[in-house]
Order: sequence, then structure tokens, then C-alpha cells
Amino acid sequence: MSDMRPIEEVDPQLSGLIKKEVDRQRSQIHLIASENYISYSMMQASGSVLSNKYSEGYPERRYYEGCQVIDEIENLAIDRAKRLLSAEHANVQPHSGSQANMAAYMAVLEPGDTILGMSLDQGGHLTHGSPVNFSGNLFNFVAYGVDKETEQINIDEVRQLANQHRPKMIVAGYSAYSQFIDWSAFREIADEVGAVFLVDAAHIIGLIAGSAHPNPVPHADIVTATTHKALRGPRGGLILSKEKFAKAIDKAVFPFSQGGAINSQIAAKALCFGQASQAEFKTYSNQIVRNAKVLAGAMDDEGLRVISGGTENHMFLVDLRSIDTELTGKEASQFLDAHGVTLNRNSIPFDPRSPFITSGLRMGTPSVTSAGMMQEQMVLLGKLIVELLRKRIDPYSVNLYTEQVHELADAFPPYPAAFAGHV
Ligand SMILES: Cc1ncc(COP(=O)(O)O)c(C=O)c1O
Repeated sequence: MSDMRPIEEVDPQLSGLIKKEVDRQRSQIHLIASENYISYSMMQASGSVLSNKYSEGYPERRYYEGCQVIDEIENLAIDRAKRLLSAEHANVQPHSGSQANMAAYMAVLEPGDTILGMSLDQGGHLTHGSPVNFSGNLFNFVAYGVDKETEQINIDEVRQLANQHRPKMIVAGYSAYSQFIDWSAFREIADEVGAVFLVDAAHIIGLIAGSAHPNPVPHADIVTATTHKALRGPRGGLILSKEKFAKAIDKAVFPFSQGGAINSQIAAKALCFGQASQAEFKTYSNQIVRNAKVLAGAMDDEGLRVISGGTENHMFLVDLRSIDTELTGKEASQFLDAHGVTLNRNSIPFDPRSPFITSGLRMGTPSVTSAGMMQEQMVLLGKLIVELLRKRIDPYSVNLYTEQVHELADAFPPYPAAFAGHV
């Protein structure tokens, strides 16, 4: 008989730490653009007995027996992902967004090939050519950036670099960029130079699923994504592609870069794709964008400059030098975390400070929207954040604003107070 005792009994130290994290998540306002709060049903799928099963391979093509139910679950996740995002092919096995990118690159490229992607200090991700990541080690990345004036992608520069370097792949889709991306212009450039067009939709896939952002799937050869950000699913990755890349993608995930699929996560992905196809998810993802626009607008009204003049998605960056030339992203993010608002420091375009210090902050609204906050709360939050930063050496003001931040957090708890943090 399996051990059916609860974690509180088996390991009070660990269960105490999980509860401590619930309390942290309840007591802070969370503006980290890549995070969200999962539902109880997501925890049920993710923590289920499906974790027990080995199922190397793909539905109906497994290296282990006993995969009949697992096949049904993976097929359900695949069908739902394809329908939700209008994709010809879906691979739901990548363990994370980074693994999805690794498999997608390896499916269509050889080590040493040239990839054109966004420079990391202007919005690209670690897996878009960082020298400390597999991507920068295995491939020859050439970087495009944003225009100094508009802080938006200069598509003419992308075209010029593509013609100059003749990359085998062009990557669009970022970790810190708040404007729409012209998918058809990227498609045209990729066709001009004979490159594969890959969109890394890790951040925006939830908005795309909820029709709050233009869908890159019809334009791109391959779209990689994560399921744990605005999509509100379990931690994990996803690859969508045109049918002609299906075989190569599947081989690059298993057996090339991964072993056994994590079936409990695949079940949770199926749940997530199902939920994201409901009408309420459209409302939710449109509210994420509305909240981001209002939060950015409120900060801008208070004198905190928003990079590229605003946002079209769930996130944006701010330039702290606009309210205090001495204030760094590191100091601001640590100060805000200590006073009830959790977010991250971020380089801004052409940042003179190092990526560890930075002149900017990045913030996003998936979590606060999941907690139920609307425009009214965003106006207040924007004001409180700017006031806290401006008056950070005035204890009276800091106390006053911190109290208001905690009142706001208490009014929109993501989980009930008694919740232990697991199913
Ligand atoms: C654009 C982009 N791609 C890929 C990833 C990697 O996802 P993961 O952290 O699941 O490896 C991220 C993560 O934030 C991202 O922002």
C-alpha cells in the first residue's frame, strides 16, 4: 500500500516551507511579468499519479508498455493545443521554454549555423545567444536591437542584417518587449534570405490564446512557448510548427534532448489548453492587457518614463533615471520587495549600467489580474510604486504607502488564508 499520509505528517519542515511561500505569495503584490498563480485543478493534474508512468516516445509509438491512458492524455493535450492556437503540429513534451528552444534549434540547424535574434540587453532571452547558454555556445548569433529614438524594433535594420549575414534562422519574440511585432514583415525577410522563421512566444502565448495579441502561428515555421506565464498553466514548454517540420521537431525533443515525458505536466497542459479555449479566458487575457496599459499610464502620469511609450501586451519596462538619476534597478527592486511589491530589475535599451545593476524595472500584470485586480487598482498601484520610490528615504511616507500596498494585497488574495499550498 502506498504511503497516503499527508506531507504535514511526513515532512513538517518542508510542508512548513511550502506554507511560508503561500503566505509570501498572499502578502505581496506580484508584478513579475513571467509569473502567474495556478488554480487548484492545475495543481491536481500536475501532482497526480501520472507522474509514476514512463512513456518514452510518442502516442502509439512508445518504448514502454502500459501507455494506453497516457497516450489518450497526450493526444488530448496535442489536439487542444493545435485547435487553440491554429497550429498544424504540436509537441507538448518540452520540460521548459529553454528546452523547447533547444529542440527547435536542433531540429532545423547544425551547430555553427547563424541565427539572427534580438540582442539580450534589448529584450532577447538567454536562449537567444547568450555566451553562458547552450545557444551562444552552439550557434553563431547575430543580434538586432531596437531603435534608439522609438525603442521599438527597426524592421529595416532586421532586413539589412539578414541580407548581410544570411542567417539560417530568424528569431522574433522576447522577454522584455512591450509592442506588437510585425509577424508578416519578419516572414517576408525570412523568405528573402531563405531562413527558418521561429517565434519564441514564451511570454505572449497566453495573450495569443485569448485573442488579446496577434497570432504568429500562421506566419512562423516554428513557434515555441511556455505554459506557465500568462497562459496560467503548469511549468513547461510547447512547440508548434508547420507539418513539414513535425518529424524533425519530435525527434529533436525525444530522443535528442529529453528522455521520458513528464506525464503529470502534460495532463496539466491539456487542462490549461482546455481552459484557455473558454470564453472566460478571452476576458481574462484582455484584462491582463488593459491592466498593463493602465498601470503603465499611471506611472507615466507620475513622471516615471515607460520604455517605448507604453505597452500593447502584458508587460513594460520603466526608466528609473526619469525620477531619480541615482536610483538603480537593483536598489529599486530590492526596496519595493521589502515594501510589498515584487518585481524584477531589468536592463533598458542602451542601459549604461550592468545587467546586475540596471537602470530599469520590468513589470507585468498576469498575476494581479488572476488575483482579480482591475483598472482602478492599477491606477492606485502605479501611484503607490512611484511614490514609494520617490520618498524612499522618508520613513513617514514609506510607512503610509506600504500600508496601502498591504491593504491592496489583502483585498485580492490569490489563495485562501488557510490554504496549505498543495492538493
Ligand atoms: C522569451 C523567452 N523564451 C524562453 C524562456 C525560457 O523559459 P523557461 O524558463 O521555462 O526555460 C523565457 C523565460 O522567461 C522567455 O522569456
